[in-house]
Amino acid sequence: MADKKIIAVVGATGAQGGGLVRAIMADPASGFTARAITRDVNSDKAKALAALGAEVVAADVNDVESLKKAFAGAHGAFCVTFFWDHFSPEKEMAQAKAMADAATAAGVKHVVWSSLEDTRKWVPLSDNRMPTLQGQYKVPHFDAKGEADRFFKASGVPATILLTSFYWDNFVAFGMGPKKGPDGVLGITMPMGDKKLPGIAAEDIGRCAFGIFKQGPAMAGKTVGIAGDHLTGAQMAAAMSKAIGQPVRYNDVPPEVYRSFGFPGADDLGNMFQFKRDFEADFCGARSLETSRALNPALQNFEAWLSANASRIPLE
Ligand SMILES: NC(=O)c1ccc[n+]([C@@H]2O[C@H](COP(=O)([O-])OP(=O)(O)OC[C@H]3O[C@@H](n4cnc5c(N)ncnc54)[C@H](OP(=O)(O)O)[C@@H]3O)[C@@H](O)[C@H]2O)c1
Repeated sequence: MADKKIIAVVGATGAQGGGLVRAIMADPASGFTARAITRDVNSDKAKALAALGAEVVAADVNDVESLKKAFAGAHGAFCVTFFWDHFSPEKEMAQAKAMADAATAAGVKHVVWSSLEDTRKWVPLSDNRMPTLQGQYKVPHFDAKGEADRFFKASGVPATILLTSFYWDNFVAFGMGPKKGPDGVLGITMPMGDKKLPGIAAEDIGRCAFGIFKQGPAMAGKTVGIAGDHLTGAQMAAAMSKAIGQPVRYNDVPPEVYRSFGFPGADDLGNMFQFKRDFEADFCGARSLETSRALNPALQNFEAWLSANASRIPLE
């Protein structure tokens, strides 16, 4: 253990960080070990990571001093923020800065920062195709992450910027699963037109991040996008129909209709889908399936994810 390179993992009890801890601990010959960071070392999820052999330590991304302690002695750090816990881009940026500062203070050799595009580079605030949200964002949960890239670039710590994709797990647990229409037929609703949506099994994000750490600081300064498949809504609905054994239709709605659905964050997600639809070539182009598979040979495509997870999709 003592001679292994420690990867300190923020969000270790969550989707992205959890996948990374599990990937590291499943590969004892890699020379890496995981330090799982959580606010509550006594939670069942934290204990499950300890049971895999991971070191579990307490820190809070709102507390830079706690992060410095959690990153001390680590070779690498995986940094992620939690937009949907608070819906605040400013908070997300402050947390990213705290992680970049802590990584610098701790002398970490390689950071992987889980980011997304700052969509304002494609859709400036003056572009009225979609509303400006929270005063200065188009897609708040994307823009803040993209803007926060600069903290890692300026930190001097070798950093790889990881562009993640839509989790297919959203069909299970984020309220995006198929819903019955008035005719009783299930449908998935996304304002994507006939454009392709890069998607990924959440568990594969951590596995790809592990691939980046294994390649080493030579990956520093690079931006790497990952996805398990690029599929249209119609293709996803067809695959889902096959996997669950009943018809699922794809409901394409205009982004303004999606924005008006009224659930918390509907406007942010409506703008997000519109951005992915309108800039399909750039967004898919930034997420190479080949690169993702090279980082993570176990990468699942949508069909593989469905065959393992279709039974978990709630059918309302
Ligand atoms: N859903 C998608 O399709 C998608 C796609 C791409 C990117 N994303 C982004 O993914 C991010 C969330 O990552 P995730 O899905 O891995 O998160 P997650 O599964 O919700 O897990 C978050 C974990 O982070 C920890 N956490 C929360 N607040 C913390 C704090 N203040 N300090 C330290 N730890 C804290 C919690 O652990 P403890 O309670 O144990 O501390 C929690 O288990 C979001 O910013 C979202 O925008 C989502």
